Amino acid sequence: MTNHLTIVNHPLVQHKLSLMRETGTSSAVFRQLLREISVLLAYEVTRDLPMTTQRIETPLVEMDAPVLEGKKLALISILRAGNGLLDGILDLIPLARVGFVGLYRDHKTLKPVQYYFKVPDELGSRRVIAVDPMLATGNSSVAAIDLLKEAGATDIRFLCLLAAPEGVARMKEAHPDVPIVTAALDERLNELGYILPGLGDAGDRMFGTK
Ligand code: URA
Repeated sequence: MTNHLTIVNHPLVQHKLSLMRETGTSSAVFRQLLREISVLLAYEVTRDLPMTTQRIETPLVEMDAPVLEGKKLALISILRAGNGLLDGILDLIPLARVGFVGLYRDHKTLKPVQYYFKVPDELGSRRVIAVDPMLATGNSSVAAIDLLKEAGATDIRFLCLLAAPEGVARMKEAHPDVPIVTAALDERLNELGYILPGLGDAGDRMFGTK
């Protein structure tokens, strides 16, 4: 992947995202839409997986058919909102291993605090896809990627639903080797670190908490 930031400008993604942004959208519908979008984002984030060919027989002839080279994958959910992206991605790549990084954002300092870390083995030989719906200040995303690199990961992608310019800049500065795939780049952060226009708190929208 050569671009640091890829915006998935597909009509289905954009339409579903607009429905998610609306304040009247219920948690059940929000989760369903997030799951649907995550499949489409996963399609994009796996676009450059290494390929090889395999000799197969069709009913008519033999051919060298394109198949995945078999690079091992690890999906890492940045808790808790990252979990909303997992099931859709696993529908598409069911053999991926799954890990979790627990970080919460201190609402005063906006800094991430770690409370959980459990990832698949051999992280260094895997393509790692870290997922979190919201790339806002970038503080927790940068901290999560720091932890994944400390655990041996070298080939990392970051997949999110919405990104703020501030978060993209912070990630580019801290982790220029980690390409970002998102459905939209919004305008800016507000004084509380929420993305504008955004969709509010993704975890709260997903799980019906406040
Ligand atoms: N996290 C969220 O869930 N929403 C934002 O707008 C920013 C961070």
